[in-house]
Amino acid sequence: MSAAVSLVDPAAAAPADVVIIGALSPASGLVLAPGAEAIDKAMGGRLLAGLRAVGAKGRADEVTKIPTLGLTEPPLIVVAGLGDQDPAALDAEVVRRAVGAALRALSGTARVHIAIGGTSSAPGADTALLAAIAEGALMGAYSFTIYKSSPPPTPLRRLSIAAASPRDRLAKAALKRAQIVADAVTATRDLVNTAPNELYPQTLAERTAEMGRAAGLTVEVLDERALKRGGYGGILGVGAGSVRPPRLVRLTYAPPRAKTSVALVGKGITFDSGGLNIKSAMMDWMKSDMSGAAAVAATIVAAAALRLPINITATIPMAENMPSGSSYRPSDVLTFRGGRTVEINNTDAEGRIILADAIVRAAEDKPDYLIETSTLTGAQMVSLGTRVVGAMGSDDFRDLVVAAGGRAGESLWPMPLPPELRPGIDSAIADITQVTGDRWGGMLVAGHFLSTFVPTGLPWVHLDIAGPAWNAGGPHGYTPKGGTGVIVRTMLATLEELAGA
Ligand code: BES
Ligand code: ZN
Ligand code: ZN
Repeated sequence: MSAAVSLVDPAAAAPADVVIIGALSPASGLVLAPGAEAIDKAMGGRLLAGLRAVGAKGRADEVTKIPTLGLTEPPLIVVAGLGDQDPAALDAEVVRRAVGAALRALSGTARVHIAIGGTSSAPGADTALLAAIAEGALMGAYSFTIYKSSPPPTPLRRLSIAAASPRDRLAKAALKRAQIVADAVTATRDLVNTAPNELYPQTLAERTAEMGRAAGLTVEVLDERALKRGGYGGILGVGAGSVRPPRLVRLTYAPPRAKTSVALVGKGITFDSGGLNIKSAMMDWMKSDMSGAAAVAATIVAAAALRLPINITATIPMAENMPSGSSYRPSDVLTFRGGRTVEINNTDAEGRIILADAIVRAAEDKPDYLIETSTLTGAQMVSLGTRVVGAMGSDDFRDLVVAAGGRAGESLWPMPLPPELRPGIDSAIADITQVTGDRWGGMLVAGHFLSTFVPTGLPWVHLDIAGPAWNAGGPHGYTPKGGTGVIVRTMLATLEELAGA
């Protein structure tokens, strides 16, 4: 259950177990961020001296705990470092990360109050900051405990944020949006973190269908028989090696008076063993191979919760890629929906195969835009590392999505589809082959492959989230270990822009 979030007057004493304030690190030395005045006064104006005494610098991601020893109602102050920046114009993403890091340091604390900024009472003045605080806190408070046999510590129950105009309409709307965004990120992380023995095509289909129904969306689930009838040879081929048959889920959000339509497509490989070309590395990441599917489902649900005036369909192919006597083989030829054929040469490049079928289906609705996202290639990580998403597609739309992602606090980088890489996937015997004979530009070749299924003239983007979807290292900022929930915020920001919201 998500926490109750409220805005409170900075002068009102908010009942809490902890109060979070900010600190900055200008060259001249540590200072408190705006918003800390009341708590510092209650501490006799000695907060800065106390922070210096314990060696705090106010650097980004630094978290310092100061006990109040009975001087204030909350027994603990947590100081979130915000780095060296203009205190009057705090950077939203730095705030999200700082607050997220503070919440991670407080796991098990039920009532948290945050007093960062909130000092300007001009209508709408602090709304971006309030939203960043709420998003950072709710994303940072995430924990995934369903498999723990002993009860986890109390999760965050109540979050209050100091705001100069707590009843301001814009501030309230920003807070509501932040909660919807955080819920979508949480839903994505939960699906990604769920073990693949529990989350397989049928159960992923059931869960996303249930999310869709609860949000009032139209839901369609194609089982293996329906996939056969529909000619989805790619999804069926990839799913053939598993005892758990594949699915295709379609969610539709069609609000009244919407003018624009967007198709979302997300890769839903519930576990990627590589198939007969069995993986020799990183198989332990591969429950995250349905991160695109989870992000797309959570995004359309969030768009409905936000009542965005835009038509959206989510087309989500789901399969488990396993080696067995019934697996598809390197050198098989599969026929996609719509009739095009592909020569398989590596069963571990399965994502593009299920996505081709899904893109063909999504395009049949004649959308105005297409956004596809997938944990598609290890090459994405070689190119951009584990935190930067690779964006390919039509130049203008790709750049629009990259910019929207930047505003939302996710890192994307535009990548080319160099024409000289395209002939590498010509096939001698089928319409196209799956991979080239070498590793060069592997992320871009995958983008080329997908592009051949996108109708000419349809603005589209392919977002390769292979690395960013899964955090194999330690937690940082608002990002936990495991599923990160990445790309939900980018897709939502893009949909909002296209909806003119
Ligand atoms: N799911 C993987 C890509 C991946 C790798 C995601 C590492 C996250 C972390 C994908 O299905 C895959 O195996 N791709 C191959 C393609 C290759 C055979 C052309 C790869 O990247 O090695
Ligand atoms: Zn694979
Ligand atoms: Zn895969």
